[in-house]
Amino acid sequence: MKLAILLMSLALVACSSDQAPSANSEQAASAAVTALQNSSSASGKELYSACVACHGVNGEGNKALSAPSLTNQQSWYLERQLLGFRSGLRGSHPDDAFGAQMQAIAKTLPNEAAVRSVVAYIADFKAKVAPASLEGNAKRGADYYSNLCGACHGPAAEGNEKLQAPALAGVDDWYLLQQFDHFSKGIRGSDESDRYGYQMYMMGKTLPDADVAKDVVVYIQSLAD
Ligand code: HEC
Ligand code: HEC
Repeated sequence: MKLAILLMSLALVACSSDQAPSANSEQAASAAVTALQNSSSASGKELYSACVACHGVNGEGNKALSAPSLTNQQSWYLERQLLGFRSGLRGSHPDDAFGAQMQAIAKTLPNEAAVRSVVAYIADFKAKVAPASLEGNAKRGADYYSNLCGACHGPAAEGNEKLQAPALAGVDDWYLLQQFDHFSKGIRGSDESDRYGYQMYMMGKTLPDADVAKDVVVYIQSLAD
């Protein structure tokens, strides 16, 4: 029953969005939900088997499914995002079809201990810089980055746990751009109770346009080499 409701809500979200997950990714999502529903005492490795279809065997991600690489992300950040999906802080906006997909999966992780074990398993993957997929003016991006982003994300985009600002260097450029776009449109982080998301939602309004955002992401990607 629970599964049917989850699948129905996934389908509804998909219909109401212009960035709808493909049939392949819907299939992978329902397979993950089913696998996790029977996983009450599973290890991190067993839990991660429900993530492989989208995030890859070694956490390398899959652009075709809009699933980011997870290997350059910090564990504290992955854990907080999974908890955010679970509580509905993230992935609840009606236009956030991919966030909704991930929310349904995170909600099926049996408990918080399971969230910690799957993150501990991901932490053992070898960090691998995601390949560049965008082109832009890195020099212009550098200026904006150092003025507006570096104070929280760090001069090398290495992240700052004290501020809960994640590392950005090495993460897929297309994913960073999409998330920045979602913050700027309020699809992510616009709920004031989402303390850290809301900070980034405010920052999403500081870059003049999508072209500059792309330049900033191209610059961030160059920091990982
Ligand atoms: C059906 C495909 C699919 C499956 C299966 C899946 N994910 Fe995801 N995941 C996604 C997508 C798509 C996103 C991007 C969501 C967005 O755009 O906000 C995502 C985002 C995430 C994020 C946020 C990363 C960030 O930097 O913001 C984490 C953490 C994550 N997934 C972990 C997991 C874990 C752990 C599992 C297994 C328990 C899993 N995912 C299973 C598709 C999937
Ligand atoms: C006030 C501190 C602060 C500043 C300044 C800031 N950020 Fe952030 N950023 C954050 C926090 C905190 C998060 C985590 C949000 C969450 O938990 O949902 C974040 C998340 C992000 C993400 C999502 C990463 C992911 O894997 O999910 C992107 C992309 C991003 N920031 C880009 C930028 C860019 C580009 C700038 C400069 C224009 C910038 N940030 C400036 C604090 C900041």
